[in-house]
Amino acid sequence: MTARRLPCCTRTSTVVSSSHFTSLFFASLTESWERAKCKSSDGMPCWGDLFNPRQLLAMQTFVACLRDALTELERIEPDAEYRKAVAAYLGLWVSRSAMFMSNVGLWKTSGEFLSTPFGMQAIPIVWDYPEANPFNEATGSTLSQLDWILRVIEHEPSLSDVSFPPALVLCNDGARLPLDVATADVIVTDPPYFDAIAYADLSDFFYVWLKRGLGDAFPEAFATPLTPKGEEATALKHRHGGDADKAKKHWTAKLAECFAEAKRVCKPDGVLAVMFAHQSTKAWTALINALFEAGLTVTASYPIDTERRNRAVALDASALASSITVTCRPRQAGAAATFRDVRREIERVVAESVHRFWDYGFRGADLIVACYGPAVGVFGRYERVERADGTPVEVPELLEFVKQSALKAIAGEFTGDALSRLYFVWANLYGTSEQAWDDARLVVQIGGDSEDAMEVARQRGLFVVNGAHCRLALLRDRANRRNLGEDTAAPLIDQLHRAMQLWKEERRADLVNYLRERDLIDHAPLWKLAQALFEVLPRGEEDWKLVSALLGERETLRIEARRTQEEERRLF
Ligand SMILES: C[S@@+](CC[C@H](N)C(=O)[O-])C[C@H]1O[C@@H](n2cnc3c(N)ncnc32)[C@H](O)[C@@H]1O
Repeated sequence: MTARRLPCCTRTSTVVSSSHFTSLFFASLTESWERAKCKSSDGMPCWGDLFNPRQLLAMQTFVACLRDALTELERIEPDAEYRKAVAAYLGLWVSRSAMFMSNVGLWKTSGEFLSTPFGMQAIPIVWDYPEANPFNEATGSTLSQLDWILRVIEHEPSLSDVSFPPALVLCNDGARLPLDVATADVIVTDPPYFDAIAYADLSDFFYVWLKRGLGDAFPEAFATPLTPKGEEATALKHRHGGDADKAKKHWTAKLAECFAEAKRVCKPDGVLAVMFAHQSTKAWTALINALFEAGLTVTASYPIDTERRNRAVALDASALASSITVTCRPRQAGAAATFRDVRREIERVVAESVHRFWDYGFRGADLIVACYGPAVGVFGRYERVERADGTPVEVPELLEFVKQSALKAIAGEFTGDALSRLYFVWANLYGTSEQAWDDARLVVQIGGDSEDAMEVARQRGLFVVNGAHCRLALLRDRANRRNLGEDTAAPLIDQLHRAMQLWKEERRADLVNYLRERDLIDHAPLWKLAQALFEVLPRGEEDWKLVSALLGERETLRIEARRTQEEERRLF
């Protein structure tokens, strides 16, 4: 079959290329876009290439209609602010329409609906794309986009009877706030998470349309051909010729400037709250250094369940399921202190934080990262923290120590062997969910005593490894291991699994003997491990049912073991 260009396509192309928007719209994709994670640039040098001719024609027509509407509004509406508000809403409508009318949109097979290309941090390459009909009322149509906006406009005022003073929105670089010294009571900021998202690059997708539709209504916001990139607080290395170190320095310096500016405009008794949802030590080190550089320190830390569980970014291992908000105040650093003393204080603060955040329901990396704030609060109280040889302790070392302390606090009084402690900590932190194997390294290091703890854990089958991911190995994964739980020096987890297997096979007498011969009936660490699994394993899971049965039968098993022992004594 040969591809044929239909007459309507040819006509559309003619209209598109003769449109007065063309020269502007066909601005090249920026170099940064091409180098960013945005893979769409492969073979697509222009913004216009992200739309097929029919979509281009439709979008250009909508933008022209927006301009006509604004001209008409100017004639009938004297209130300039009101006109601006209407213009902004119509701009949102154009942006939403563009998201559903490009050739990089996605079809969600899970829900059978059309989805935008903005679910990830970068526009993905797609081999085929769904196309919305702009003129019906289904998902992706321009009418349905308008409906979303109208629903918000109608819903917002109904939320409260209290009338708030109108908000004043200022658009500026965070390092140059148009506010006077000591005028703000509270400053809340949500800076970019290191290099997680190429905001400015991705924004250009919308900017090219908005500039053409709203350029006259908001000349100051659309002064540049594409979004300004130079002042963006980001650690994207493509902005620095691929140099990751330069990118990190830029991000730290820019954030420090923004924090110093926030400190300038904040009242002396005011609060600065910084939101952050990245788990990498690199990103946190840069954030903390930026705060210190700006003369601030952390005074409290609040993990908040803000992120949508099913958002595509959540698939990225570096993103946290929750975000952490740290509140900061001016740093009054006292004298130098020794790391030995500070460590003790940090261990205490971290242990207290682990218990508090644990009770709130935080687990995994979120729980550990939530402890950074309180520990930084302790660290920031000293001008300098020194090792015994006088060398200063840097932030990465502090964070490493916080992780170790948090894991120790999670392991608590668990006195079992290293491998079982690892299993215990892991089950507590992650349950049966899959984790990146690289991230697992941290937990494995603390759980195991030996240098090659990772290898030992793998050999003992504590995890099921699937490519770069792994999860806790359950009884079904371990039951066929040779002599599971039979060595004299078998780790507790092997012994527990052996007991669970005997219960599962309904070999009650063997189970009683097994527990009795190994003195396990009153061995607290074994039952603590069983209790931990009972608490963290999903309810429907076979292992949960087995540990729950063992825990429920513990008393009866003890009686039976005692009886067997007495019988044996009587016999011999
Ligand atoms: C994590 S996002 C904030 C998201 C926001 N809280 C929300 O819910 O939509 C970080 C934002 O900081 C903006 N940004 C980056 N550099 C900036 C700068 N120098 N001044 C002000 N904002 C900046 C980015 O464009 C991005 O919109």
